[in-house]
Amino acid sequence: MSNLIKLPGLIDPHVHLREPGATQKEDFITGTKAAIAGGYTTVLDMPNNPIPTVTQQALEEKIKLATGKVYSDIGFHFGASRESIQYFKQVEDKVFGLKLYMNHTTGELLIEDATVLEEIFSEWTKGKPILVHAEADTLAKAISLAKKYGNKLHVCHVSLKAEIDMIRAAKSEGLDITCEVTCHHLFLTEEDQQRLGPFGIMRPPLSSKEDQSALWYGIEEGVVDMIGSDHAPHTKDEKLSEKVPNGVPGLETTLPLLLTAVDDGRLTLDKLIELTYTNPKRVFNIPDQQDTFVEVDLDEPYTINNKLYTKCGWTPFAGMEATGRIKKVVLRGQLVFDGQNIFGPYGQVMV
Ligand code: DOR
Ligand code: ZN
Ligand code: ZN
Repeated sequence: MSNLIKLPGLIDPHVHLREPGATQKEDFITGTKAAIAGGYTTVLDMPNNPIPTVTQQALEEKIKLATGKVYSDIGFHFGASRESIQYFKQVEDKVFGLKLYMNHTTGELLIEDATVLEEIFSEWTKGKPILVHAEADTLAKAISLAKKYGNKLHVCHVSLKAEIDMIRAAKSEGLDITCEVTCHHLFLTEEDQQRLGPFGIMRPPLSSKEDQSALWYGIEEGVVDMIGSDHAPHTKDEKLSEKVPNGVPGLETTLPLLLTAVDDGRLTLDKLIELTYTNPKRVFNIPDQQDTFVEVDLDEPYTINNKLYTKCGWTPFAGMEATGRIKKVVLRGQLVFDGQNIFGPYGQVMV
């Protein structure tokens, strides 16, 4: 028996589609196909490419590269760096937020210099969020800067109870702060690390069971605003090399895992829609898509496998039993996914 329902076209505020510069991992075509196959009709792409999106020229280049190629709609975040501050005014209308790396991870965008951090928070428009990669103590620094300069702050991939506690406190103080969690932190813990080896390595790392429970509780109490996949593909060869890169893909597994949580009674459908559509739409001011929906079969069981549209061709969730399958995606009245095949490209670059 099937149990078909319609969801809105989902919005992923946090993906790394790797173009330009690292297209052996992913590109705009494969990345947005993965989005569509995962029920996402809108994605926001991160700036930490080998040629980072930190100048007006680099942003325009990215927009040009994506135009005419994308299967889902796509928008971009600008990258924060010492040198990128001079472009803030020119790019603020063309992007959805400013990504700031306050801890080490993939790419060269780390900023630790206190003066540069102050300048970034002071200069970035107060109308759009600063998205921070800020783990543990670093998050406290980000919150205090946002408070000082009156920024909208969006905390990426929260993974620790201590971070949830800080965000809850900042919200109750009235700060304009939102946050996201990823499915790898919701469905895997440090115990899975051994089994997964390099395929379970990402930043922030998989955390403890206790931290994981705090994330689920954060969803329930409303401290967690949204799910971001942090789709961060790397090739199998790269993952098996000496210098293991951080990151795992997530676009095609997020909705199935969340539907499984609905089936298990850990999440309501209303909450799922809030986390993957309503809240990211509001926080990042994403335009409407007319006649757009995702049809899922709430009752269909299947085993997550590596047969995926992402170029990297693997997922840390392979072998997991899921309940809830994506059967169809319609974008602006066009069938773009029939459960197996992708049609298009019908996506638009949002500028
Ligand atoms: O695991 C991660 N991978 N964390 C990040 O912050 C960056 C991402 C990537 O771009 O590979
Ligand atoms: Zn990050
Ligand atoms: Zn990321």
